[in-house]
This record gives sequence, structure tokens and C-alpha cells, in this order.
Amino acid sequence: MQTKLPIGILGATGMVGQRFIQLLEGHPWFEITWLAASDRSSGKTYGEAAKWRLDTPLPGHIARMTVSAAEPAGAPKVIFAALDADIARGMEPRFAEAGCAVISNSSAYRMAPNVPLVIPEINADHLHLIEEQPSRKQSGGYMVTNPNCSTIGLVLALKPLQEHFGIEQIFVTTMQAISGAGYPGVPSMDILGNVVPYIKSEEEKMEAETLKLLGKLEGRSVTPLAARMSAHCNRVAVEDGHTESVSIKLTKPATREQILAAWAEFHPLAGQNLPTAPEQPIEWTPQDDRPQPRLDKNRGRGMAVTAGRLRPCGLLDWKFTVLSHNTIRGAAGAAILNAELLASLGKLDPVAETAARA
Ligand SMILES: NC(=O)c1ccc[n+]([C@@H]2O[C@H](COP(=O)([O-])OP(=O)(O)OC[C@H]3O[C@@H](n4cnc5c(N)ncnc54)[C@H](OP(=O)(O)O)[C@@H]3O)[C@@H](O)[C@H]2O)c1
Repeated sequence: MQTKLPIGILGATGMVGQRFIQLLEGHPWFEITWLAASDRSSGKTYGEAAKWRLDTPLPGHIARMTVSAAEPAGAPKVIFAALDADIARGMEPRFAEAGCAVISNSSAYRMAPNVPLVIPEINADHLHLIEEQPSRKQSGGYMVTNPNCSTIGLVLALKPLQEHFGIEQIFVTTMQAISGAGYPGVPSMDILGNVVPYIKSEEEKMEAETLKLLGKLEGRSVTPLAARMSAHCNRVAVEDGHTESVSIKLTKPATREQILAAWAEFHPLAGQNLPTAPEQPIEWTPQDDRPQPRLDKNRGRGMAVTAGRLRPCGLLDWKFTVLSHNTIRGAAGAAILNAELLASLGKLDPVAETAARA
């Protein structure tokens, strides 16, 4: 790309918004030109409005930018959205109708039949659904979503197994980091030295999204994978990184070596040169006590998932542990990779052209 594409961030001051800023600093294709958040923040400089929580410095040029009102007028035509679902439900369609490509982290439209829920390594073909959105025909704008932070790691580990052996049943128990609840998130008195065995709507989201992601695009919608699934979701006193214990029943028998080979050989984006794509999407840890969030969450610059502890399951066929970084692979990094895929397919060009004509 010769000149960088201007992009905006909705919900720029939150946990995921901050990750966008961190990950987009020096991005070869995209440049942040617009930041928006709630009325509490708009009109202030970003440095005043945001409580920067990341372990790299807030870039000075971002700190000096003024936070805009969350309105499409004046916004660039490519928008990363990191809003709570209740806010996103009303706001994201308004940006799409105004001609923006809205690349969203929220759950508001993930399960809408004409909205693609996409992980580039898994189901890039589902992006075709944007052509089914009324705004696409009217203004060029559309919405694309990435999954919940607990879903992404699981689905990346499952996809090669589904391709090689078929999957009939999935049982997963999560141990989810506190950053997954945004900032300030879970009160410290509730989580320190504790486990909270409930995350509102998380189990339902994880089950529905997993089956949509592994499903098949048929005509104008996705037919979900016909597998049975049960998710147990827990919040644990970990800063970043969701760890998941998974059991699966396969359609065809598989040996341990065949499963490890399926993970090792899984490189669906090889040769596409997407800047944020990890070289090895699924990294294997042979140690008995890995993966661990503190040690493994940043593999592949936070974009790889780490699998370990593969062993026979007494109830289903195989069980293993998988870990992914919830605000990188599970949120901002996922959306940036979706945007890179859209750009590589020319799906951000018509948006820019529509904008130029308007
Ligand atoms: N954290 C994760 O690991 C993770 C992973 C995957 C997906 N997600 C999803 O990503 C979204 C954002 O999550 P988060 O953790 O970043 O939440 P967060 O830390 O609570 O941030 C929310 C952001 O939305 C802004 N906002 C609130 N009300 C608004 C309004 N009326 N108009 C415009 N902006 C408004 C806030 O701005 P102010 O600062 O001005 O209030 C803030 O920038 C959620 O849908 C979440 O489910 C999060």
C-alpha cells in the first residue's frame, strides 16, 4: 500500500480501544486519524480522557489528539469499533449507513444472519455476507465482526481438527482474565484470591459463535456446524490471557501424532502477507505445565494461540489446554487482522471510493 488508509476508533479510551492504539502504532497500511468515545471524553485530548493501562508508553501524537463525538460526520471511512454491545447496537449501523466499513468487537451483530463473524484463518469466505447488508448497496458501508475473546482461541485450535477428522462434541471450561471485563471491570474485592464462576451471557455467546464460525456459508447465511457443545465460563485473577480446558469427540479416529501434525501444518494465511497474521497460528507446548497466561500469552506478538496437554479423554476422545491473549488475538488484533484481510480483498477500496464521491 502506497499511502496509509485513514482509520478511526470508536470506544478509543477503553481496554480494547487502547490495544488498537498500541497495535496500530507504526502499522504499514493503516493510520489513526480519528478517536471517539462517550460524552465523558469527547472534546478532551486523548491523554486527558483515557486512563492508559498498557505497558508501552502512550504515543505522544495520540495523547495530543482531541477525542471526537461518536458521530459519523467527520469520521474516516474505516472504523474499528470497541463499544459495549448496548451502545454498539444503535451506533454501528449508523456508521455503516454513512458509508463506513465498521470492523467491530462487540457482540451486538455477531449472530445477525447478514453480518460476517470472521477469523481470517478460519472462515474468510463468510465475508461475502457484507454484500447482503442494505447499507452496502446504499452507501458502500457495512459491518464485520470478530468473535468473543473466549471463542477465538478455542476455534483456532478446533478448525484443523474439524477439517481433518470432523467434530461432533465440544466441552470447554474457561479461566478468563480480568481485562476481558474492560476497565475498571471486576471489582478487586470480588476477584483477588478468588474465582467467579459466572460471566454474563458468555457461555451462550461462546457456544453460538463457535458453531457459526465453524459453519458453512450457504447462499445468504451460515449454516452452523452440527456439533453439540457445552461451555463453562469462569473469571480468574489473571491480568491478560484466557486459558481453556477442552474435550472433544471427533467423527473419525485420530492419533496424538495426527492431531499435533494438524495443528503444526495449519497455515491458511501463508503467502498473503497480512502484517498482523502470526507465522504459526497454533503453537504447541510440550511441557506438562503449559500453556500458562504469564508465560505464553504473547506468543506470535499476542496473535498465536498456544495448545498443550493433549491427552486421551475419559468421556470424549481427546482433551487439551488452549491459551490466547484476550485483548490482542481476542479483540483488537483480531479486528486489525480482519481489516487487513478486507484490504487485501479490495473491500476497503469501494468504501474509500464511495467516501470520495460523497
Ligand atoms: N476486553 C476484552 O478482552 C474484550 C475482548 C473481546 C471483545 N470485547 C468487546 O469489546 C467492546 C469494548 O470492550 P472494552 O473491554 O474495551 O470496554 P471498556 O474498557 O469498558 O471501554 C468502553 C469504551 O466505549 C466508550 N463508550 C461508552 N459509552 C459510549 C457512548 N455512549 N458513545 C461512545 N462511546 C462510548 C467508552 O468511552 P469513555 O471512556 O468515554 O466512557 C470506552 O472508550 C465490548 O463490546 C466488549 O465486549 C472486549
